[in-house]
Amino acid sequence: MHETNQQPVGGATAAWWTEAVIYQIYPRSFAESGGDGIGDLPGITARLDHLVELGVDAVWLSPFYPSPQADAGYDVADYRDVDPLFGTLADADRLIAAARERGLRVIVDLVPNHTSSAHRWFTEALAAAPGSPARQRYIFRDGLGPDGAEPPNDWRSVFGGPAWTRVIGPDGRPDQWYLHLFDTAQPDLNWDNPEVRAEFLDTLRFWLDRGVDGFRVDVAHGLIKQSDLANWHEPQEILSGREIDKPRPPMWDQDGVHEIYRDWRRVLDSYPGGRILVAEAWVEPAERLAAYVRPDEMHQAFNFEYLLAAWTAPAQYAVITRSLEATDAVGAPTTWVLSNHDVVRHASRLGLPVGTPRPNGIGIGDPQPDAALGLRRARAATLLMLALPGSAYLYQGEELGLPEHTTLPDEARQDPTWKRSGHTERGRDGCRVPIPWEADAPSYGFGPTDASWLPQPSLWAEYARDRQHGVPGSTYEMYRTALRLRREHGLGRGTLYWLASGDEVLTFRNGEVTVLTNFGAAAVPLPDGAELVHASGPLDGDRLVPTDVTVWYLG
Ligand code: NOJ
Repeated sequence: MHETNQQPVGGATAAWWTEAVIYQIYPRSFAESGGDGIGDLPGITARLDHLVELGVDAVWLSPFYPSPQADAGYDVADYRDVDPLFGTLADADRLIAAARERGLRVIVDLVPNHTSSAHRWFTEALAAAPGSPARQRYIFRDGLGPDGAEPPNDWRSVFGGPAWTRVIGPDGRPDQWYLHLFDTAQPDLNWDNPEVRAEFLDTLRFWLDRGVDGFRVDVAHGLIKQSDLANWHEPQEILSGREIDKPRPPMWDQDGVHEIYRDWRRVLDSYPGGRILVAEAWVEPAERLAAYVRPDEMHQAFNFEYLLAAWTAPAQYAVITRSLEATDAVGAPTTWVLSNHDVVRHASRLGLPVGTPRPNGIGIGDPQPDAALGLRRARAATLLMLALPGSAYLYQGEELGLPEHTTLPDEARQDPTWKRSGHTERGRDGCRVPIPWEADAPSYGFGPTDASWLPQPSLWAEYARDRQHGVPGSTYEMYRTALRLRREHGLGRGTLYWLASGDEVLTFRNGEVTVLTNFGAAAVPLPDGAELVHASGPLDGDRLVPTDVTVWYLG
């Protein structure tokens, strides 16, 4: 263990979002009211008091817009309405109003990289001729080879398979190809087209006028493609994952995206009340990601490098330090996250051997995580995260310690990844299973009947909120206490000073709270005089912090 310097990282600012804890609701799987097994907006409204009691500041809602649901709503057919699956526009208004009454802010999802193939624009593009204005809203190109039968370049879809699909022209003959970095049902928009830019500015205003507090921007690093659409020769990954001096993939993190967000920022700033933009940008290194949160661009960018970091003291020390320094350099806070609807839940991910590459789903026949170890580490990771300065996102169900559904029958899978990868990547269904509220109710209280769009495992009862509510030591109560103390001690707006970092233990101070995580095999004593305020698990005796436990203490 060595003492590190006392330089602060993570400066303080005042706006609400700089320190907010924001809870991600995945509408299909949070709560439903209609009995069809798919969560909906009235279901969410009816459960908002739970989130107030938990102590979060805001919610982010994944897409609820009209959509054929080829990618669970990330294929949007109309950006200014609500899919009947989820309710009506009036239900959205009621949800926003009910949240506001309770002091909760609401962030909605914006999907600008692609539309659904059912969007009116795409229908018009298919009916129009090559080169027409309707085609120029998307990325259509002639194919290669004498009869244009080869795709225009070698890009692959993130979900597997080629990133190009050939269309049949209005005359019934094979015609041009269109680009889709995701599913065939998600054609990429052409952001060099001013009409596309104007349309999204209007969509921002539509939701801002309805009172939303901000937007989570889907695939924020993908909107601009290198103009020559050069071949890439490498497997496609949503993570640009490049060293700063290595070439970037021609489809990700192009410099041109920043101008778009500067335009959006001007629109948001013309509204009162601190409306925000949060980037879903799988961009490394931290310096490139920090460019998205420069003062005139977005407010937050999910820190996926942190989400992906290994559960070791050196890896956690390095990623936390690097992240804080990179965002400090542009005057922004850091935005921490451990789980979302695209990754294996951290209660399961951390139950895999340290160093396991991030799995894209886990299924029957795959190596199974150690559930007890995963939960123990997940609780320690969460308590570490919630003590860091900056904002933090929680994913629905993590406050229950919910694991991934790792034995979901393959026939039930709905993520397009499973099919498009030729059944080699299980995909993301395992983290999207409807969450349990009441252990003894049908669908564990998710809805009024047993219906559930993905089957819930029988183990869900033990994680149900009513089994944990008011139970000392439960994961739910650990989260609730952590959120209360985080607020009372101003940890989100604090400053981090490393006290010690070694191979086994990390210790830092944030205001009057000292945080210690023990990654090592041996228990670590609390210092003399330390007054314990919170712990992710029981201590050994009074004063020994066991392996994979985080504690917060005073003094
Ligand atoms: C990121 C979203 O979080 C994910 O669920 C979706 O499949 C892709 N973007 C494409 O929209």
